[in-house]
Amino acid sequence: MEVRITASAPGKLMLFGEHAVVYGYPCIVTAVDKRMRASVGFNGKGKIAVSAPEVGLNEYQKKISSLGKDRIPKPVRFIEVLVKNFKNNFGLGGGLDIVTECDFSADYGFGSSAAVTVSLAYGLAKLHRLKTTKKELFEICYKTVIDVQGVGSGFDIAAAIYGGTLYYIKGGKKIEPLSLDKRLSISVGYTGVKADTPTLVRQVAEQYHHNKKEVSEIFIKIGEIVDKVREGVSVGDIRKFGKLMNENQILLHKLGVSSRELDKIIKTALESGAWGAKLSGAGGGDCMLTLGDKKDKDKIEEAIEGAGGKVLEVGLGAEGVRIE
Ligand code: PMV
Repeated sequence: MEVRITASAPGKLMLFGEHAVVYGYPCIVTAVDKRMRASVGFNGKGKIAVSAPEVGLNEYQKKISSLGKDRIPKPVRFIEVLVKNFKNNFGLGGGLDIVTECDFSADYGFGSSAAVTVSLAYGLAKLHRLKTTKKELFEICYKTVIDVQGVGSGFDIAAAIYGGTLYYIKGGKKIEPLSLDKRLSISVGYTGVKADTPTLVRQVAEQYHHNKKEVSEIFIKIGEIVDKVREGVSVGDIRKFGKLMNENQILLHKLGVSSRELDKIIKTALESGAWGAKLSGAGGGDCMLTLGDKKDKDKIEEAIEGAGGKVLEVGLGAEGVRIE
């Protein structure tokens, strides 16, 4: 009987602490209820065959012995490198047929690469009947991210594995669940502009090298904001959460990672009565978040759309990786 395993992992949204997290400061990330699925089975052919219809990839094939070698097309990079790393760590039972499927557009910045890496790693572990721990899964997936893009804190990998809302420190040094106040009414707006995370991370690195003192001060302040949120997140004053979002946004703006589109949507959301608004993730485009009173949600979302944003309906604090 052919055995196929399908695993799914959630996308994510960074709530607080982007960029500073790359330098060892904490961040807060939440998993979203939009998922990526990877289905995997042995094919007995000594090669991987990958289909990812949502990114126009059909039956990409590579011999197991050549994994990680030669040019790897962009849509299959995380998948191929993950399989290679899995093979090196745990061994591989044979060639694999892999099919991926996504609930969301890769343009939104919800972390489709991290979610596909995690769902495939979990599917492979189950297919090989391995009892991998979450931490082992994290290590192999984080290594894959670093192998492919050279930079990254791994926050998106942690969100895809653990789910919920996490207080996180780079490399999985700290992965601590937080419970978000149920009264928080957060809306998500997509700018329509796709951002390239590694480019923005490198842009910040450049600034850091030229202006260590000033940029370090920004990171320290961002870290302090994250710690204030961590202390007050489940008990607290939800307006204060909004105020901290605004403070975080000012610092991100100073880092130069906001954009004209983000600034316009954020300003309009605040003018419509939101308590706080900020970009989410690397910046330069992708998504923004805004927090307001539940009763003002429609008004705030109309403002986002009026400023050129697209409101995305997402639930926060979703379940981590699982078998479907
Ligand atoms: O662009 P996103 O949503 O993947 O977020 C990037 C967040 C950074 O802190 C800028 C990078 C990282 O790996 O933590």
